[in-house]
Amino acid sequence: ADYIHEALKPISWLAGRWYTANGRGSYPSVREFGYHEELEFICLGQPMFNFLSISHHPEKGTAMHQERGFLRILPEKEKVALVVSHNIGLTTIEEGHYDCNLKEIKLASVSIARTSFSKPPHVTNLLREFILLSPDTLQVTVFMKTDQKPLSQHLKAVYKKVE
Ligand code: HEM
Repeated sequence: ADYIHEALKPISWLAGRWYTANGRGSYPSVREFGYHEELEFICLGQPMFNFLSISHHPEKGTAMHQERGFLRILPEKEKVALVVSHNIGLTTIEEGHYDCNLKEIKLASVSIARTSFSKPPHVTNLLREFILLSPDTLQVTVFMKTDQKPLSQHLKAVYKKVE
């Protein structure tokens, strides 16, 4: 279970399970909210991470936003791609670069699709950033643009590694 594919070495710092120390959501049209979230980056021996994200209501503990996908890597170009399906009827393909020294990954959506009956507004752009603040502390920020609002921060969370 601890085996990590050679290709993932530059981003091996992401491997494992993470749980929020603090998660804050915002958006111009949304009242600020807190949330809890578990993240998983698991290598099954293939040159990619299986990605999972499940957020929970901070008081009720009920499931909120969920994501499942794969984080793929192209080490020759220091590129990564996150292919994600969201429980809100959305799929996003996000691509970007990693920085081995800063231990960060910056992604921007290159493709977004949705079911015919997903709830408006429609997400038209998504930016996501992973930064390792210390070996057991990860920060994730997400900015999004919809067909109704300009690019604005939606999520910022700090996670601790789950042993
Ligand atoms: C609202 C997308 C992740 C909680 C929204 C809206 C969109 C959206 C399009 C509607 C904004 C508006 O009405 O103008 C996304 C995307 C996500 C994401 C693309 C992932 C990349 C999350 C996460 C949480 C969350 C992790 C944590 C619980 C909420 C809440 C609202 C909201 C509470 C306001 C109420 C609602 O419209 O349901 N999100 N979201 N979102 N999001 Fe997210």
